[in-house]
Amino acid sequence: MGAWRLRGLSLWPLVLTLASNGLQSAVLMGEKATFHPVPVVTLDGHSGSGKSTLARLLAERLQWSWLDSGAWYRAVSWATLEAGADPAQADSVLAVLSQMNLQAGAHGSVLVNDRDPALVLRTPAVDRAVSDVADHLTVREALNQRMRAMVDAPHVQGVVADGRDAGTVIFPNASLKVFVQADPEIRLRRRLAQYHSAGLEADENQIRKSMQSRDLRDAARGDSAPQALPGFVILDTNVLNVEQAVGRLLQLCESLSSPRENSSADDPTSSPKP
Ligand code: DC
Repeated sequence: MGAWRLRGLSLWPLVLTLASNGLQSAVLMGEKATFHPVPVVTLDGHSGSGKSTLARLLAERLQWSWLDSGAWYRAVSWATLEAGADPAQADSVLAVLSQMNLQAGAHGSVLVNDRDPALVLRTPAVDRAVSDVADHLTVREALNQRMRAMVDAPHVQGVVADGRDAGTVIFPNASLKVFVQADPEIRLRRRLAQYHSAGLEADENQIRKSMQSRDLRDAARGDSAPQALPGFVILDTNVLNVEQAVGRLLQLCESLSSPRENSSADDPTSSPKP
């Protein structure tokens, strides 16, 4: 993995001050004020930017819960296919979603009716369906509400949420909002490395094309397109390695504390200390 660099250092104390106050950030960004009972940190970025890796590691270090929003979209897509419904029809997907009990499980997993479908969420069929599912605004809104609800669970000490619109749409009043930046070529290298480490053959041109078409589709999703809005900290991962990037994130999180920090309740969604 290439070296990663943090840009905008001089801005982040200001950003933290503003973002740690839900009311101020709500007023500044013209959003409805929502106060979360625990700190919420969001990592937005394009596919392959490394946001999920960083979110997982950050949640592990902080012993907070990790919300992998992509996994939630995949779970709904998988359930839609299982039900024989059409992923391209918003109403059909919504009907399936309305029957699903969705909960955050450990290590960023999503439990569907108390079962973890992790093993079936990355099949080519789900890959195809999820792009259609994610295009439906009504589905996005319904799923966002489900994801927001996990913050209120009494065992949760804090949440690290990652996704293309984690900080812009899902948690606009998060305590800290980070945009994980990576150049297209770096993202391509990382994707190829993932294939190789999984022992899979990878056609570089094909992967480049599929990343480009994903980017175009993501960019067409209006407010949910990956973007760094005012108030976001830009974490440029082109010249920082993973450890350096996590270290930077931990520094940024230092001033965030959880009102539930001293609670002895077990959190089934948090990761054990490494
Ligand atoms: O990150 P991923 O590949 O697991 O995401 C799966 C799909 O879900 C992808 O097509 C984009 C979509 N998605 C989204 O639209 N918004 C999110 N916050 C997360 C994922």
